[in-house]
Amino acid sequence: MTRIVILTGAGISAESGLGTFRDQDGLWTKYDLDEVATPEGFARNPDLVHAFYNARRTNCRSAQPNTAHEALAKLQSAHSDDVTIVTQNVDDLHERAGSTDVIHMHGNLNGALCAGCDHRWPAPLEMSSADLCPACGNGSTRPDIVWFGEMPYAMDEIYQHLTEADLFVAIGTSGNVYPAAGFAAEARAAGVETLELNLEPSATAGVFDKSRHGPATAIVPQWVAEVLRAQKKA
Ligand code: APR
Repeated sequence: MTRIVILTGAGISAESGLGTFRDQDGLWTKYDLDEVATPEGFARNPDLVHAFYNARRTNCRSAQPNTAHEALAKLQSAHSDDVTIVTQNVDDLHERAGSTDVIHMHGNLNGALCAGCDHRWPAPLEMSSADLCPACGNGSTRPDIVWFGEMPYAMDEIYQHLTEADLFVAIGTSGNVYPAAGFAAEARAAGVETLELNLEPSATAGVFDKSRHGPATAIVPQWVAEVLRAQKKA
């Protein structure tokens, strides 16, 4: 089986009703990311940041996985040891579609973190700056989200998967935010075939060997069906 590493971005959850960031009415056109997605913004006004993530947590719980999430879960269940999903998304739609071991490099909305003792626990629907850490009792609690200026999670593991893959596929990401935006170039430098599945060419489209454009719910199930058919013939 071909070893496939898949990177997903907000575009795969767009048709589930969760906003993207940089599209016409994206989240960063409505909120100042410096205020709600940086450690400095959180230090300045923690309850504004909690309100932002509480709203996204509520939206996420009422959203449903779409056929693109489901197609990736089907691919992964057909070849679990050869399909790795890395997501920039903080929603849990991959997991709710049946995917496992999803690497959330930017954290996840369902997680809470104590900046004091590094304890993690399931986030309540509404977090506030009054929350105390269930482990150490301190008030240094925050959403378990990687903010701008912070190091994404699992980078060593991700680069290991990237360089050992046969195919790297980016789905629904604009290629604007590093280090994720650099994964295609890293894969290519390691001799890995690269494919972009996106509504439109991303900022790093030129790095990919192949690309297909269209809504994720159309092009992802189509691509997965082709991969599964090819595996059957092999
Ligand atoms: N199907 C496929 N692709 C889509 C769809 C769709 N229905 N709708 C939008 N897209 C594409 C857009 O064309 C765009 O290229 O998804 C991409 C979304 O880009 P962004 O909004 O920049 O989201 P993303 O790439 O995930 O952002 C990366 O930036 O703000 C940070 O931490 C945040 O994880 C996020 C990171």
